[in-house]
Amino acid sequence: MDESERVADVEDVPEGETLLFTVRDDEGALGEAFLTQLSDGTVVAYRNYCRHWTDVRLDTGEGARVTNGEVWCRRHGATFQLDTGYCDFGPCEGSMMEEVDVTVADGGVYLDDEEYAFEHLGPSGADTDEGGGSRIDFTGS
Ligand code: FES
Repeated sequence: MDESERVADVEDVPEGETLLFTVRDDEGALGEAFLTQLSDGTVVAYRNYCRHWTDVRLDTGEGARVTNGEVWCRRHGATFQLDTGYCDFGPCEGSMMEEVDVTVADGGVYLDDEEYAFEHLGPSGADTDEGGGSRIDFTGS
């Protein structure tokens, strides 16, 4: 595996919590994603934004709210299943979180997604949750 794409050791990926990291897309723009471990030990990753208002982060830098295998959006309470990414409650019900491909090898979790390169652990530093920008709303609400 490409060591520059190693996000974290598997043992550092929490269950019932999220581990925030920063990615860079093909055009050089920074974005955020988070890792979490499912109850069966599977490690999954998703981009760190809500499908209702895409400028709202699910993990605000202190860990997302996770209960019963679901991550919550603190803004309006949408819940997304961590095993599938499916939103089963809230204003964006029926939508899907954007999954980021990762691979587990040699005790580590590697970003393995053609669209993104690993940048660093932690927040991007971009101002993504203060409003003022345009909002893409998939729900019409
Ligand atoms: S911004 Fe997430 S539910 Fe509204």
